[in-house]
Amino acid sequence: MRKAVGLALVLAVAGLALAQKVPDPPKAYPPGELGELVKLGEAIIMQTDTHPLTKAYVGDKLQCKSCHLQGGKTKNKYATFIGTAAVFPAYSPREKAVVTLEDRILNCFMRSMNGTRPPVASKASVAMAAYITWLSTGIPIQQNSKKPVGLYSMPWPDPAIAKLVKSGKVDVKHGEQVYMQKCAACHGKDGQGVGTFPPVWGPNSFNAGAGMANVIKGASWAKYNMPFGNPNLTDQEAVDVMAFINSHPRPSFKLTDHLPPADKLGVYNSNVPEQIIPAPTWPPAKK
Ligand code: HEC
Ligand code: HEC
Repeated sequence: MRKAVGLALVLAVAGLALAQKVPDPPKAYPPGELGELVKLGEAIIMQTDTHPLTKAYVGDKLQCKSCHLQGGKTKNKYATFIGTAAVFPAYSPREKAVVTLEDRILNCFMRSMNGTRPPVASKASVAMAAYITWLSTGIPIQQNSKKPVGLYSMPWPDPAIAKLVKSGKVDVKHGEQVYMQKCAACHGKDGQGVGTFPPVWGPNSFNAGAGMANVIKGASWAKYNMPFGNPNLTDQEAVDVMAFINSHPRPSFKLTDHLPPADKLGVYNSNVPEQIIPAPTWPPAKK
């Protein structure tokens, strides 16, 4: 009896580990018009700030792929789009509403892209949703009742990172050293990016409403995704370096400034009509 329980436990743990492994992206694009739309969606995700269908909606110098590496084809945790579509419609604590994949995509334009929300069912919106959905080909639906994040991004944020920040173990000075050693070559000593490498603070970066502007969320992402091509940060380095990055100015966030005029808005699927987040500083400014 005890043996059977032990075996079941081993199998359950093995199953969990298996479930965590991110599968490869699909190899072939769908045929016909759908395939063309999927490719359009991929192009927009790769060139969001310059693509003719989306540049008017972007207010910084980033692309979706700046954080969703390889356009979300990466297997890196918190950056992949593989397994993302399988969880929608999902509950969003931020919107206090059940949101669709399209809603989730469009809301990124207001925050990570520091721009304006494009209309639901616009060509760009459907194309990005088609592309992200295609990346979950073969993955069973598993709607998320807690958060609008994908199968392979749970638990989100990273529990070890959250624990460090919540217990106050954050050292901006050390973060500066980590930044100069491991990040400045690509993102610049001034944080404004070098060549095609993107800015990490200042007017051309994501705004205060973006997940990345939150030290816990930003460090969770950085732990698995930076330095680019060789993610190697310890939990403490990830926390300290993102606190250093967020000790610099960036655009503040006022939700209603990022919604288009009412006649162009369509349905905004949210029960939170306003949210104001001042630019973050670390340590947080005293109230
Ligand atoms: C500045 C970084 C950044 C940029 C730019 C960005 N995102 Fe994200 N995005 C994140 C982070 C961080 C998360 C939450 C982590 C996670 O769980 O995947 C996220 C989550 C998502 C999710 C939920 C998926 C999931 O599995 O969590 C979708 C969909 C998404 N982003 C779409 C987009 C689209 C489309 C764009 C471009 C219009 C974009 N994002 C631009 C950082 C960014
Ligand atoms: C070898 C160059 C390189 C290094 C080193 C590097 N990055 Fe990046 N980083 C990139 C690239 C490239 C992207 C965008 C990915 C893309 O466009 O394909 C990026 C994206 C980012 C982003 C999200 C987009 C933005 O600009 O806000 C953050 C935040 C970030 N890096 C932080 C860091 C941190 C922290 C370090 C050091 C621990 C680091 N990076 C080291 C190249 C680098």
